[in-house]
Amino acid sequence: MCPDRDSNSSPHVQSEVRQKLAVEMICPYEPGKPIREVQRELGLQRIVKLASNENPLGPSPRVIDTLNRDPLELHTYPDYDGWYLRQAIARKLGTPMESIVVGAGSSDLMRLIADVYLDPGTEALVSDICFPVYANAARIEGAKVVTVPLDDELRYDLERMHDALTDRTRVVFLASPNNPTGLEISGGELNAFMEELPPQVLCVLDLAYHEYTDPERRVNPLELLQRHANLVLLHTFSKVYGLAGLRVGYAVAAEDVSAALSRVRIPFTTSTPAQVAGLVALEDTEHTEKSVTLNDAMRRRLARDLGALGLRTYPSGANFVLTDAGVDADAVFVRMLRRGVIVRPMRDPRLNTCLRITTGTEEQLDLAIGALGEVLAECKSPTPSGRGSG
Ligand SMILES: Cc1ncc(COP(=O)(O)O)c(C=O)c1O
Repeated sequence: MCPDRDSNSSPHVQSEVRQKLAVEMICPYEPGKPIREVQRELGLQRIVKLASNENPLGPSPRVIDTLNRDPLELHTYPDYDGWYLRQAIARKLGTPMESIVVGAGSSDLMRLIADVYLDPGTEALVSDICFPVYANAARIEGAKVVTVPLDDELRYDLERMHDALTDRTRVVFLASPNNPTGLEISGGELNAFMEELPPQVLCVLDLAYHEYTDPERRVNPLELLQRHANLVLLHTFSKVYGLAGLRVGYAVAAEDVSAALSRVRIPFTTSTPAQVAGLVALEDTEHTEKSVTLNDAMRRRLARDLGALGLRTYPSGANFVLTDAGVDADAVFVRMLRRGVIVRPMRDPRLNTCLRITTGTEEQLDLAIGALGEVLAECKSPTPSGRGSG
């Protein structure tokens, strides 16, 4: 049972300790209430969560089995820098182990990159619509965040990003596929961008959803890294490996970059269960293939069903689809929540009628599409005063 967080709590007290100015610049993550709490409050039988791009199949059964059987020596500290996990990743990628750094999710590695390369007087370049941790990681270091708008089709405008570089730019954050658009950067575009990027500027290529992209069109990130030492690749175990709850991800980079990231790492951030789970998950290619196959099918279905509701969808290479509901996204979110379906409403002014929906399973999509159809009808039907309610 979830304890009521507010009961028996003592009143908040205020300290007078001055915080870094940068803290005020941070846009905090809005986590929402725990699902069980929402379910209890709304009296719902079940909730389908399609808001955080998790793997609906969960982790590999081999991971569950290992974690259940292995005592894991939880009273001892984890392996300091994930030796065996790094070794397994290095073997799989065919790179030296020294090029790999593990972290508590790839978000942790984004903070490490900012720690190493950004300080006041430097700049980080991001697109206006992207994963918010990039900008927050830069801001907390006191760096200036320069945003470059995605183009009208929500694709990266890499030429414009290039034009926005200054001699203060240290880091550029890119994601392929991007979140929340789902759109990929083509190999050709990335190659051209890296060719033009000054070697003193680090490009962080976030590949959180890389495994879901079509292998035919997919960029070969390791090949790119071979040619450009100012590139860092970020991978996560939170998506296709289904281990979001354990917090584990890794960076692949040139040796000086990975050595610097390791140097500023807080020791032992990646727990023993996370390291062991990552290791086993990497080996179970059958499970990742099954996850990708399910995602391909559900992504096609989701795009088709949204199209049938008359909504525009953006072509996605990830495990979610961005769609334009044509009415206020927050209003749709609230009404879908009451029907037990959680999707992600976009808050960006350019996207405030858009929802990001994780692909899920057939059963989850039956409920989500059913609920969305009802909600859209409700939002578009005239209220007694004659005005739409969306
Ligand atoms: C583009 C992108 N990068 C990174 C992450 C974070 O991954 P992790 O769980 O490894 O911190 C996410 C999570 O949603 C994401 O969408």
